Amino acid sequence: MDSREKKEEAIGIFDSGVGGISVLKELQKEMPYENFIFYGDQKNAPYGEKSGEEVRALSLKAYLFLQKMKVKATVIACNTATSAAARFLRERYPDDIIIGMEPAVKPAAFFQEKNISKNYKCEKETGKKRILVMATESTLKGDKLHHLIDSLKEQGEYILLPAPGIVRLLEEGKGHGDEMLSYLRELLSPYREGRISSIVLGCTHFPFVKKEILDALGYPVPFFDGAAGTARETRHRLEEKGLLRDKNHEEADRGIPSPSVELYSSTGDSSLLETFYRLPI
Ligand code: DGL
Repeated sequence: MDSREKKEEAIGIFDSGVGGISVLKELQKEMPYENFIFYGDQKNAPYGEKSGEEVRALSLKAYLFLQKMKVKATVIACNTATSAAARFLRERYPDDIIIGMEPAVKPAAFFQEKNISKNYKCEKETGKKRILVMATESTLKGDKLHHLIDSLKEQGEYILLPAPGIVRLLEEGKGHGDEMLSYLRELLSPYREGRISSIVLGCTHFPFVKKEILDALGYPVPFFDGAAGTARETRHRLEEKGLLRDKNHEEADRGIPSPSVELYSSTGDSSLLETFYRLPI
């Protein structure tokens, strides 16, 4: 296949479910001229409560689904699958472009809040940031995250908080109701007293409930997630190989179809993915 043909292939994305849509949106912002194929393994969600071996097997299945659809790169839009399977997939397919996610602990650690309000009083008292890292149980246990946090311990204190209920409720289509709010209120009650300087959303499902997290917390905090960084990295990797689609406004005249997004679910029913795709984040 010549590189002109390869350029026209879509970018594949997979996650256990609707969360990866938050990454798809960043990818579209970064590369509006690209086509995307999204696969949500909703039949097997949540991944966060499965063993590393199970997540690797499911990630391989998702990867092969996308390869069959012909994609020029694959984005693992899932922190859990990245931590369990990215290395395994890269070793198996060394010539493929495979991009993963990383919880945005580093940007949170180096973030400078110019006007520290009374809500950041913990930082003023101890001189250290208190950063809440929310992710799945499995991501929080991973060596990758622990090495990252170890390398940044001078910058702050890190509190690791699994939030499996967010994934479960979102996959049941209960993203914005009372159930989500009361789950978050209980989960975040130890941090209601202005004790947190920022929150790392280390699971791609979580950006869909930022508003609910703030409601439950009761004070404003900045959020950090890895989607924008992953989108930039994807663009960079494609650029490097000369595989970005040409930003040619005459494409339509030349019969080249405009960018498209296809959403597939392992359940065979992609309606929840479509609902989330229409949601603003
Ligand atoms: N969205 C995923 C992540 O970023 C996984 C959630 C799950 O399936 O448990 O970790």
